[in-house]
Amino acid sequence: MSQTLLVNKQDFAEVALVNIKEDALDDGCIRLKLGPWALTANNITYMLTGDQIGYWHYFNPTDYGIQMDEGDGIKWGRMPVWGYGEVTESRCADVKVGQRVYGFLPIADSFDMRPVKLTPHGFQDGMEHRTKLHSLYNGLTFTDKDPSFGVHQDLQPVLRPLFTTSFLIDDFLAEKDFFGAEQVLILSASSKTALGTAFCLKQRSAIPTVGLTSARNKDFVDGTGFYANTYSYDAITDMNPDVKTVIVDMAGNGDVMETVLDHFEENITYICRVGISHWDAKPNVSTKGKTPSGFFFAPDQAKARIAEWGGAGFNQRLGARWLPFLDSASDWLSVEKQSGVEPLLQTYKEMLDGTATPDKGYLFSL
Ligand SMILES: NC(=O)c1ccc[n+]([C@@H]2O[C@H](COP(=O)([O-])OP(=O)(O)OC[C@H]3O[C@@H](n4cnc5c(N)ncnc54)[C@H](OP(=O)(O)O)[C@@H]3O)[C@@H](O)[C@H]2O)c1
Repeated sequence: MSQTLLVNKQDFAEVALVNIKEDALDDGCIRLKLGPWALTANNITYMLTGDQIGYWHYFNPTDYGIQMDEGDGIKWGRMPVWGYGEVTESRCADVKVGQRVYGFLPIADSFDMRPVKLTPHGFQDGMEHRTKLHSLYNGLTFTDKDPSFGVHQDLQPVLRPLFTTSFLIDDFLAEKDFFGAEQVLILSASSKTALGTAFCLKQRSAIPTVGLTSARNKDFVDGTGFYANTYSYDAITDMNPDVKTVIVDMAGNGDVMETVLDHFEENITYICRVGISHWDAKPNVSTKGKTPSGFFFAPDQAKARIAEWGGAGFNQRLGARWLPFLDSASDWLSVEKQSGVEPLLQTYKEMLDGTATPDKGYLFSL
């Protein structure tokens, strides 16, 4: 018997921990013991965009034979997380028991996969319902084949899935010559994706990066040293409105965006829409028809760069930023590692409420 966490797709506060009967493992499959895996605001966004982008489809309970009452297959979904698994049973000749992998996972203690497209570095999960989904999320990495997993193992699940996006935002802005701006303004500056972006922009030293955050998170953001300046949401009008500004929006908060647009007016050159960490705020849908903007979907930008640089070239450039960022993280982030459903649900509630503190990373196993 194993366990998994279900979330009501219409009301994320409603969750259910259910038991799953473990059948004999199918030929060609592996069984993984999952954990630890990380929880950040990004996981909430996966659910918010679960229908639009398709994140609900990766671990849909009914595709895994999880018993549901009639109609419950529509109600319940599984929130995807990033983390580790260890092979406990294998009926796949090329994957050995004890092998550790890293990838996109459901919240469960045990999970079966069908390794296909095996390389020395990893495989794709070839379970039938996943084959039409994005390969980035279907890919698992053998941790012993990627030397970067050898350092800061607990930080990896917290920061790794976010930092690739950070790296690509910096790359995208530089490629576009910062849309003619004199500064980058990042909204929800305390989020890990924002911090990674500010870190990359600082390393590039092209134009200064300014952070916008909650009053309670301002000291933390200042303390990282990644931003030239930091303002709280209630001090937006203290910024110099004459500076041409490109916005990177991790917050998706309509009220904040309207205040920023009213303040800078035509000096906003572009809005790069990345996230909706303020998921329960008024949505940020309008640019008042004035400002060019675009949704930033990291897998698309990665695909374009891999086509141009090749896989090795991409990894080399990413690694040159990633390893120093990981090294820096011990100065501003501590990781709490817990097991069991109680601490998980407590932190999950804090994530939903926006009360989790940005100086902590959270790792769990069931
Ligand atoms: N488009 C893409 O490809 C892509 C890729 C990666 C991440 N993202 C997005 O980037 C965003 C940040 O993700 P993350 O995992 O880096 O976040 P995180 O580190 O968990 O961010 C925490 C911060 O988000 C803000 N926040 C979180 N929940 C909130 C709430 N309920 N109410 C108000 N503020 C809240 C707070 O920042 P402040 O006080 O500073 O506002 C908080 O310190 C997410 O929306 C994520 O989906 C997008």
